[in-house]
Order: sequence, then C-alpha cells, then structure tokens
Amino acid sequence: MEASLPIVCVTIGPPPEVLARLEAVCQVRIVAADAPARVLQEALSRAEGLLCSALLPVNESLMARAPRLRVISNFGVGFNNVDLPEATRRGIAVCNTPGVLSDAVADLTLALILAASRRLVENAAYVTSRGWSGGRPAPALGFDVGGKSLGIIGLGRIGRAVAQRARAFGMEVVYHDTVETPQDGPDYCQPRKLDELLRESDIVSLHVNLTPETHHLLGARELALMKRSAWVVNTSRGPVIDQAALVRALRAGVIAGAALDVLETEPPMAKEPILSLPNVVLLPHVGSATVETRAAMLDLAVKNLLAVLAGQEPPACVNREALPRALERR
Ligand code: DGY
Repeated sequence: MEASLPIVCVTIGPPPEVLARLEAVCQVRIVAADAPARVLQEALSRAEGLLCSALLPVNESLMARAPRLRVISNFGVGFNNVDLPEATRRGIAVCNTPGVLSDAVADLTLALILAASRRLVENAAYVTSRGWSGGRPAPALGFDVGGKSLGIIGLGRIGRAVAQRARAFGMEVVYHDTVETPQDGPDYCQPRKLDELLRESDIVSLHVNLTPETHHLLGARELALMKRSAWVVNTSRGPVIDQAALVRALRAGVIAGAALDVLETEPPMAKEPILSLPNVVLLPHVGSATVETRAAMLDLAVKNLLAVLAGQEPPACVNREALPRALERR
C-alpha cells in the first residue's frame, strides 16, 4: 500500500498533526536542511515533492538528482532559494505562501521603525545594565514618526500593509515599485522614482522580492542620496542592500541608522562588522515568526504540495507555466 504513495522530502520540522496529514497520503522523508548533500540527494532521488524553507538552496544540481520531482513547496513567501528558471524548464511547480504573513511582517516593520525612532534597544539596555538605577545619563531623545515621510520600496501585499499602518501613525507615505503593477497605490501613497524617494524619505523600508534586478538595489550611490538623518529598514531579504556599503555609510554618518530583520549572510559571521555598530537595530529574520502566522504558512505550504501531488492546481504557484507538466507527470 505504502509503496504506491508518492515520496516527499521535508526539510522543515513539521508538528505531529501536520506530519500525520502528510503521512496519510505520502511517504515522508524528513531531512534537515543542513544535512550532508548525499543525504539530501538520496532522499530526493525518488521524491515527487519537496517541502522546504528559504534555508535550503534548491539549485540546478539538486534538481538534476531529483528526476521525479514535480513540486517544490516553499514554507515562506520568498522563493529566492529556488532556481526558478531551472524548475520551470524541468516542469517543476514552485509554490510559496503569500498573503498569510503580510500582517505579521508589516507589524514587525512598524516595530523596527518605532524601535529606531524611540531608541528602544538603547533604552531597554540602559535599564537592564543598571544605568537608570545607577544614575547614568539617559540615552539621547528619539524622534516622532508622525509627520515624517516613509518611502516604501515594493508596494506589494506587505508594502501595502506597512503603508496602512504607517498612515495610522500619521506618516506621509511615498512608494516606488520595482515591477510594473496594474494597480495604483492607495490614494494616500504617492509614487516616486527611486532616487526621488531616497532623497525625500525620513525612513526607507524595503519590501521587494530578491531577484537579480533587486540584488544590491541599495548600494553606496543610493545610500548617499538619502538624508543624513534617515534610517533604512529591511524586512525583505538581506542582499537587497549592499551590506558592506551600508556599514561604510553607517560609520561615516551618510545615514543615521539601519533597522534590519535580514542580513546578507544568515546567520551572520561572528566578526560581521554590522554587529558591532551602535546605530543599528538587528533581528534574526523573524518577520513571520508568530504562532498563528507560522501555522497559516505551513497549512498553505502543505495544501500547495498536496494539490500538485494530487494533480490539482495549487493555491499559490509562482511559475504557473510549469503547472501543466507538473500536473500531468502524475
Ligand atoms: C518569507 O516568508 O519569505 C519569510 O522571510 C520567511 O522566510
């Protein structure tokens, strides 16, 4: 009986109820994303499905060793870990989890903006390091976000959710989109060319996918266009900012600070210079890290996986052109 069930390779640790849901219709092979390559290749050699996260690079050589693979279901909205053209060429559907994490990531973006503006990290450390009780001078004052200009780069689902929240805090919102969208922004969001947005904004927040076009979208030239008092906030993908250029800009006072949930290398090397700068707020890639949001993401990732394996259209697929082949290879 089991032998006829499709094999799926899972590189995230699903909770028991999700594992049971998978095991009812698949033969599940659980492998850690950082397992030795031969272990992963062995698990994938007869697999029809792969359930993974951004931690697993799914490149050409891995796909070449998975000749039966029909679906890569990514646990996350970002899919820059997958070689998309290669997956499409091979007729492998690539699925992601859009929508269900937009509010969580937008909430965290606002948390970073407020942490920067109200010097939350410094003030908290002032208390816990006994600075307050010991009578040391308090950290410098923060700044109001009301009336300040927020420049959103990438007005997709998450960018729009950030814009709504920023509006509620009394911010002026301008945006720049790196892709053509049929929809205009809401009437309280004014479009700008990238350079104009950078010159004008008090806070610049990034909400683009990582693609060859957005890699190092903000480098030395772009950072130099920003106000010296401005902060950059990134909850998208680390490589959208040239981190070495950012470190130089932060050291030289080209911009005031950076509040980042993502870094170019994750986790960062212990000696990574950005870790020791005073004008940064750094988080360990936790944009979607709430119990409710992670459960909704996993549910959607499993639905995507099982739909393709059952020969049905998945709810969220980023290369729909691969679907006919992915579905017919059943
Ligand atoms: C996403 O969904 O892409 C988040 O960044 C988690 O990887």
